[in-house]
Amino acid sequence: MSKRAVLPPGPKESPVFGSLKHYLNDLPYYLLRLSREYGNLCTFHLGKTPVVLVNEPDLIEQILVKDSRKFIKGRGLQRAKVLLGEGLFTSEGDFHLRQRKMCQKPFTKRCMVGYQPIMQEYAKEAVEKLTDGEERDMLKDMMQLTLRVIGKAAFGLDLAEDAPTVGTAFTEFLEWFPIRVVPGSELLDHIPVPSTKHIDHAVKELNSVILGIIQKRRENPATEGGDFLSILMHAVDEEGDGSKMTDEQLRAEIMSMFLGGHETTANALSWCYYLLSLHPHIRERVQQEVDTVLEGRLPTAEDYPKLELCQQIFAEALRMYPPVWFMPREAVEDYQLGEYLIPKGATVAVSQLVTHYDHRFWQEPMAFWPERHSKEAAHARPKFSYFPFSAGERFCLGEKFAWLEGVTVLAAMMQKWEFHYEGNRPINYVASLTLRPKHGMHLRVRARK
Ligand code: HEM
Repeated sequence: MSKRAVLPPGPKESPVFGSLKHYLNDLPYYLLRLSREYGNLCTFHLGKTPVVLVNEPDLIEQILVKDSRKFIKGRGLQRAKVLLGEGLFTSEGDFHLRQRKMCQKPFTKRCMVGYQPIMQEYAKEAVEKLTDGEERDMLKDMMQLTLRVIGKAAFGLDLAEDAPTVGTAFTEFLEWFPIRVVPGSELLDHIPVPSTKHIDHAVKELNSVILGIIQKRRENPATEGGDFLSILMHAVDEEGDGSKMTDEQLRAEIMSMFLGGHETTANALSWCYYLLSLHPHIRERVQQEVDTVLEGRLPTAEDYPKLELCQQIFAEALRMYPPVWFMPREAVEDYQLGEYLIPKGATVAVSQLVTHYDHRFWQEPMAFWPERHSKEAAHARPKFSYFPFSAGERFCLGEKFAWLEGVTVLAAMMQKWEFHYEGNRPINYVASLTLRPKHGMHLRVRARK
C-alpha cells in the first residue's frame, strides 16, 4: 500500500467481532440506521474486515460502472460457486466478459417476444388455479409460476411435470445457503451438520437434473428449439478463440439464469399484490387499465407499452422491496473513494434498499406511489438513486425478461382477482441473498365483481 488507508467514520463496535451481531440479526435495519447517522459513506466491520457502505448516486455509479474492474464480487457470491460454478453471477474479469457476450444471445428483444407466450400461458394457469374466498400463499404460487416460465424458456420443459424436484432443490438451497455466508462457515463445509447436508443434497440434485438435460440434448439435437440451452450450445466466442461452451460451463450459466431469474421476479410480484391490497384506490385504477387495454384478452408482448400503471406498480415494488438489496464488492487494489483511501481487500457495499429509502431522492419513501416511476419523474431524480437491476458490465442479464414477465403476470391476475391482506401487522421481510416476505405472502383471494 503506497498511502495510508483512510476509511470513512463509523459506529462503535466490538474489537473482535466488529458489527457481526447486527449483520446476523437484521442487516437491512442496521444499514438503514447507519446511512441515517453517517450519510453518504460509513465504515463498519465484519470481524476485522472493513465494510464501507456507500449511499451516494455518483459514487454508486463510480463503483458499479466506471471502476467495476477494480472490484470482485463479495463473499456471498463467491461462496455460491458451490452451485453456480464459474457462471455469470460468480465469474470475474475477461472470462466473465467472454461469457456475458455469449449469454446475451437469448436475451435480445426478438427472443423476449418469443418467450412472452410462455409467460402468458403459465400466468393463465396460475390465474385459473385460484378460487374465490380462499386464503393463498401467493409467494409460493409465484415461485412455482416463475420457475415454470424459466424452465420452459431455458429448456423447453415444463418443470412441474418433467422435473418436479428442481423447485424443491432450489428452495432447499436458498433456505440453507445464508449459513454459508457467515464468516468462518468454511469450517462447516465438510462436516455433516444440517446446513452442509442440505446444501450438498440440493446441489447434487440440481446438477444431476440439469446435466442430464444437457446430455440428452447433445444426444438428440432434433429436440432443439429457441430455448436458452439451444442458443447457448451454439454460441461461439466470436471475439476470442471461436470456441463453444463445455457442458460444465453450460450448466453453470443455466444455473445462474435459474437462480437469478425466478425467485427475484416471484418476490417482486408477491409484493405487488400485497401493496395493492393496502391501496384499493390504486388497485381500482390498475383494474381499469387492464380492462381498457386488454378488453378481456390475455396480455401479449404488444400490450406491454400500454400497461403503464402495471409497469409503475412493478417498479415501485422493486423500489420498496428490492429483491437484490445489497451488493458487496471486494476491492482488488487500494481504492480512492471521494476523500478516502479504501485498502485492498476491504469490502465496498452498495444497497438498493438503503438508497431506495433515502429522503434526499424520494419524497415520503415509505409511501407506495407508483407515479414516481413516470418517465418525467424518473428523469428528474439522480440516475443511481434507483438501481434494482444494478448497472455497468454486470447489470442484470434478465432485466427485459423480468419486466415482461412481471407485467404480463400482474395484468393477468388483476383482470380476474383482488387480493386482501387480513393481518394486523405489516408483512415483514427476510434478507438473505434476496429480500423476500418472511413467512410467505398469505392473502385472501376475491373474484372481481
Ligand atoms: C425482478 C427481477 C430481477 C431483479 C430485481 C434482478 C436483479 C439483478 C441484479 C441487481 C443483478 C446484479 C447482481 C450483482 O452484480 O451482484 C442481477 C444479475 C443477474 N441477473 Fe437478474 N434480476 C431479476 C431477474 C432476472 C431474470 C428473469 C434473469 C434471467 C432470466 C436474471 C438473470 C441474471 C443474471 C444471469 C445475472 C448475472 C449478470 C452478470 O453478472 O453478468 N435476472 N440481477
